[in-house]
Amino acid sequence: MRSRNPSALAVPSSARIMATHISVLYRVSLDALDLKEGKVIVDGTFGAGGHSKGIAKEIGKKGTLIAFDQDSDVFKKPIVNEIRTFTNFIPVIANFRTMAQALADKKIDHVDGVLLDLGLSSTQLEISGRGFSFQRDEPLAMTFSDHPEEQLVTAETIVNNWSRETITEILKGFGEEQFAWRIAGAIVEARENAPIKTTNQLVAIIKEAVPGWYLHGRTHFATKTFQALRMAVNDETGSAEEGMRSAFALLAPGGRLAVISFHSIEDRLVKQTLKELAESGHGTLLNKKPIIASDEELELNPRSRSAKLRVIEKI
Ligand SMILES: C[S@@+](CC[C@H](N)C(=O)[O-])C[C@H]1O[C@@H](n2cnc3c(N)ncnc32)[C@H](O)[C@@H]1O
Repeated sequence: MRSRNPSALAVPSSARIMATHISVLYRVSLDALDLKEGKVIVDGTFGAGGHSKGIAKEIGKKGTLIAFDQDSDVFKKPIVNEIRTFTNFIPVIANFRTMAQALADKKIDHVDGVLLDLGLSSTQLEISGRGFSFQRDEPLAMTFSDHPEEQLVTAETIVNNWSRETITEILKGFGEEQFAWRIAGAIVEARENAPIKTTNQLVAIIKEAVPGWYLHGRTHFATKTFQALRMAVNDETGSAEEGMRSAFALLAPGGRLAVISFHSIEDRLVKQTLKELAESGHGTLLNKKPIIASDEELELNPRSRSAKLRVIEKI
């Protein structure tokens, strides 16, 4: 058993009061970035802005914070104005995998720290209306971008057009779904009658495809299918890997890359990529085992249960 970090709590009070998304591993991830006044920091995943606000306060007026998010909605919130009172703030509506180009465009060639808090925010899950949750009836988009109509691929595209084999691969590879083949078969059969357009339709198809006992497990029977489709739609593993490599390349000596993952597939990728970067001789892993939430944080925010933080420092 790993011991839980006693200092991982310090959930920002603003997050508790104003937003449904509570930043996970808040204090430890800020500490991991070794923040000091005047530093240049990238938050690759702005979300509800909780981590960004904490970073902004610590780097202050002489510092610069560049924040990425594919969801333009996140930069329309009042927290953005608040952040601007603390530091120089540059919002970028883009995938963080494009950070090298985006920073070059702004004549920034080195940064002191990068935070990637992977996945989706509670706000996206709960109120985006883009079909991330199997508990709400919504259109099957699942895009991080708030303009699904501009995306080449949505969850609707996948379930209505891709082959049983490819859907099976997605459900296995990104969801570790043991009934991938059966669920993919049921999807392909159902779409012959009518296009699959909503989360409720998809949940009903999965329910019919899996054995009875699977409906009563600890994890909801649709969890893995939904996770897998979301990861495929957003090319989350591709973005994360490219983002981590790009971020590491941009770090000044002594700079830190901190990455928070939420499930085993993500964490394996983070662990492997940071290990390779360290083995290249240009970085040091700062913690052998991932940092996880304290009991106190877990009590306040059960979502932090699966969060893992890994950190690398550039030599
Ligand atoms: C877990 S939330 C981040 C929460 C944030 N750290 C906070 O304290 O509120 C992840 C956010 O990153 C965004 N995101 C995920 N992958 C992305 C990517 N590859 N590029 C840009 N934004 C991404 C999502 O749209 C979401 O808003």
